[in-house]
Amino acid sequence: STIENGNFEWSAPSNIALVKYWGKKDNQIPANPSVSFTLNNCKTITKLGFEKRATSTPLSVTNGFSFDLLFEGKPKEDFKPKIQKFLERVEAYLPFLKDYHFTIDTQNTFPHSSGIASSASGMAALAMNFMSLERELNPEMTDAYFYQKASFLARLGSGSACRSVKGNVVVWGNQANIEGSTDLFGVEFPYTIHENFKNYQDTILLVDKGEKQVSSTVGHDLMHNHPYAERRFAQAHENLDKLIAIFKNGNIDEFIKVVESEALTLHAMMMTSMPYFILMKPNTLQIINAIWKFRNETQIPVCFTLDAGANVHVLYPENVSEKVLQFIQDELVVFCQNSQYICDKIGSGAIAL
Ligand code: PMV
Repeated sequence: STIENGNFEWSAPSNIALVKYWGKKDNQIPANPSVSFTLNNCKTITKLGFEKRATSTPLSVTNGFSFDLLFEGKPKEDFKPKIQKFLERVEAYLPFLKDYHFTIDTQNTFPHSSGIASSASGMAALAMNFMSLERELNPEMTDAYFYQKASFLARLGSGSACRSVKGNVVVWGNQANIEGSTDLFGVEFPYTIHENFKNYQDTILLVDKGEKQVSSTVGHDLMHNHPYAERRFAQAHENLDKLIAIFKNGNIDEFIKVVESEALTLHAMMMTSMPYFILMKPNTLQIINAIWKFRNETQIPVCFTLDAGANVHVLYPENVSEKVLQFIQDELVVFCQNSQYICDKIGSGAIAL
């Protein structure tokens, strides 16, 4: 490699799954396909500085890799093992990694330890930066290759991160009737999406900012020998099928049924694994019940989904925004930690800065 030094900077958004990824095989291959909305405002912004190392540099310290890590401008030692692991997993695909010393300078647009997972946006932003360096060394690569490989690398960092490279709706995992879908990287939903989903809103209610009691790595592993695993994986294919039709016909009532059932099924898998666990909090249930009551009384098509945590994502079409935000302020904010919530919406993926 001939490039001596320089830097790149990328932002990558978080994403929220509609059909959930929960359970995996070796090498971050998902047990079932998933689909997500890419978000717009919740992002990680990462600058990658790189500098050619002298050939005499001892390669002993961190298994041959050399990097410094800054989080919000300050050295962050406790994130380094995650990055180290990522570099080890992607080295086979980025053979130049040991030729450089890297400075990884990263920050999130959402509050620190808000309970919003930063692994998807963080790993996606890092993967984009490394692809920029690969393109520098290999200028003839196509844009399609650039984005596919970025998603492939992000997947090796954190599975759901492969859905944060592109927008607005991304499918990850092989599904027979979705052209181009693959277990190896996320692809943009390849068919036209009904305008009812244009600018779809996601208001994230921060119920509990505490550290997760169970990491997603442990959670995925508990799907091995899980009594309902096989049926669940089949169900994910069925629900993705339903969403293909729904994205085409714009039926929001059907959308709500699939999305809420997926959220509760994710948590049902956690409650029925061994060991079993519960990530929802009392206020999570208060919010779900309030959403159901509001929807029944007003017929306004608002629904919820959940990640592997207690926070609630409130999803609704743009044309009911005003009424739903009023409802959130009047009835749901009381269930949020320090009254905190984040207004987000569907977005278009990673951006070079
Ligand atoms: O990307 P991971 O390994 O942290 O798994 C994330 C899994 C869920 O967020 C719970 C669901 C999903 O599909 O994003």
